[in-house]
Amino acid sequence: MDIVVLAGGLSPERDVSLSSGCKIANALISRGHRVLLADLYMGLPHARGFGDAYNKFKKDSYEFKVPEREPDLAAIKKDRAGALGTHSEVDAGCSGGLYNNAQLIGDGIVAACASADITFNALHGDIGENGRLQALFDIYGIKYTGSGYEGCHLAMDKPLAKELMRVNGVRTPEYEIITAGSGFDPLAGKQLGYPCVIKPCGCGSSVGVSIVNNRSELDSALKYAFIYEKRIMAEHKIEGREFSVGVLGDEALPPIEIIPQTGFYDYVNKYQPGAALEVCPPVGLAPELEKVMRATALKVHGTLGLSGYSRLDLILDGEGEINCLEINTLPGMTPTSLLPQEAAAAGIPYNELCERIIRLAL
Ligand SMILES: Nc1ncnc2c1ncn2[C@@H]1O[C@H](COP(=O)(O)OP(=O)(O)O)[C@@H](O)[C@H]1O
Ligand SMILES: [Mg+2]
Repeated sequence: MDIVVLAGGLSPERDVSLSSGCKIANALISRGHRVLLADLYMGLPHARGFGDAYNKFKKDSYEFKVPEREPDLAAIKKDRAGALGTHSEVDAGCSGGLYNNAQLIGDGIVAACASADITFNALHGDIGENGRLQALFDIYGIKYTGSGYEGCHLAMDKPLAKELMRVNGVRTPEYEIITAGSGFDPLAGKQLGYPCVIKPCGCGSSVGVSIVNNRSELDSALKYAFIYEKRIMAEHKIEGREFSVGVLGDEALPPIEIIPQTGFYDYVNKYQPGAALEVCPPVGLAPELEKVMRATALKVHGTLGLSGYSRLDLILDGEGEINCLEINTLPGMTPTSLLPQEAAAAGIPYNELCERIIRLAL
């Protein structure tokens, strides 16, 4: 098959996505497909369709290592403008059409995806994961892996997903929405006490997330979260063991337990090899609890109308209750990612996992 693996993009999770994309592309190349890794934001300049782009840009194998720090998106924007020689707001594009510096999809991407057999969506965060790109692809009749735009939108909006979980009997921590200008102490007079977790409502990879133990830690946490979004949330902090449960097709994979060496499962602990212990299958987890976790992952996946694959994040508290934090519609596929480890524990090697995700989409 002719496959575009779409990664990068102008998202705080850009680097994670490039790492996922490289691994997926290499896996699909090894299965004999014609694979082109494309950066959603940088585009495939001057390319006209998949065949042309493949001839111009394909590599025999791809590699990208996630740096410790989140990417500098302003620098990425400058890089693209520099590469294309576009300095004004609207310039003549490489394909002869108008090219706008604010455009989130690079030149040549839609044409390449439209003439490939399928696009493997390896994007994380922003338009690749929140449903906007999926809606556009539907309009163009482009086939892609993973959930459709409705499910992506619901899952990416953490408060919305939590409300849907709650009305469907799935336990999720209490929370408050905080918008910019909510006051000096936005949590004053609220039920929610400390410790709590401050996070953007629609990011991923723990970008913008802080654990706040008392009032003195609140301001810097708010400032950090507001870098990424105007709408953020404070959530009751759950003490307990952290797990994640993948869904592949209509089956849940074995849960994986996450034990960071220090602190919580933040950006560094997620992507620096060895920073967190990830144990699958988990040691000392009662079989009935494992069963409930898997059933919960399937329930949330179904409730939000997701398809193909997903991964539910949860915390098991001291009372043995399962508290769901969120469900990811495009779970990481990097060398340290959870879903591939869960699939391996279920006897599905990485290359086969990528093929299955494609088969599910077709
Ligand atoms: N309510 C919470 N209680 C305890 N830890 C939390 C809570 N919310 C988030 N965390 C920690 O922060 C990490 C990221 O939060 P999550 O809601 O999963 O957002 P993201 O989309 O960034 O992964 C979690 O994996 C967990 O370690
Ligand atoms: Mg998460």
